Amino acid sequence: MAKSILVANWKNYPVSLAEAKTLLKGYAKKKDLYKKTRLFIAPPFTYFESVADKVKTFGSLASQDFFAKPGTFTGTVSADTLKSFGTKLAIVGHSERRSLGETAAEAGEKARAAFKAGLTPLICFGEKSRDADGEHFRFLQEELKTLLSGFSKKDVGACMLAYEPLWAIGAKSKGAIDPTELSQTILFIKKALADLFGRAAAEKVAILYGGSVDHTNAGLLLRNSGAHGLLVGRASLNPQSFEGIVRSITEK
Ligand code: PGA
Repeated sequence: MAKSILVANWKNYPVSLAEAKTLLKGYAKKKDLYKKTRLFIAPPFTYFESVADKVKTFGSLASQDFFAKPGTFTGTVSADTLKSFGTKLAIVGHSERRSLGETAAEAGEKARAAFKAGLTPLICFGEKSRDADGEHFRFLQEELKTLLSGFSKKDVGACMLAYEPLWAIGAKSKGAIDPTELSQTILFIKKALADLFGRAAAEKVAILYGGSVDHTNAGLLLRNSGAHGLLVGRASLNPQSFEGIVRSITEK
């Protein structure tokens, strides 16, 4: 069976390099456990060099965001620069970037730029709220169309998707999605992908879930839902919590 994909999104934490190194040491102590997954760590840019060096024996470096164009854009980082640091996966369109104004079209442009630079785009999308009429499904379908426009049948399989309902992300959220609702949503996403790119191409796209994942729900969310992995925020900042997630998805 394919290994589950696990992405640790450190967001804007930890606040110092010393703390980032301590956190990474905590991960490294359990490297044999992490090798049972396809682990990616997405730290703030300032810690890239330290993480890139330490993570290589048990995982890969990922980015949280970048700027789609290289050149005279002060304060930005390009996909090619990320690549030069050994980055393998590029998160794009995260809801916290969208809340700062990034549109689905811009996230789609980043996904194409990441692909062009040789990075795997991990494209985030998810509804703000759910309603009994299933209006959120229409929203997800439209998002997919925009985010993946410009990808061919041949190339779309190189992308990963992260389904992250906004109402499930962060400490103030309602908590993680119910596993049954997740499997229905993953099924819907697969069908939407097949409508856009054909079944064979759609089946190659890995779909992750993110939003309040912790050691109590990780196994339940992954098992039988059709998801290929998890995108983890808060719980990735504590080595014990993160280890608990890995145990719950690797030990049956
Ligand atoms: P959370 O964040 O696990 O803290 O809910 C997930 C994310 O924003 O990717």
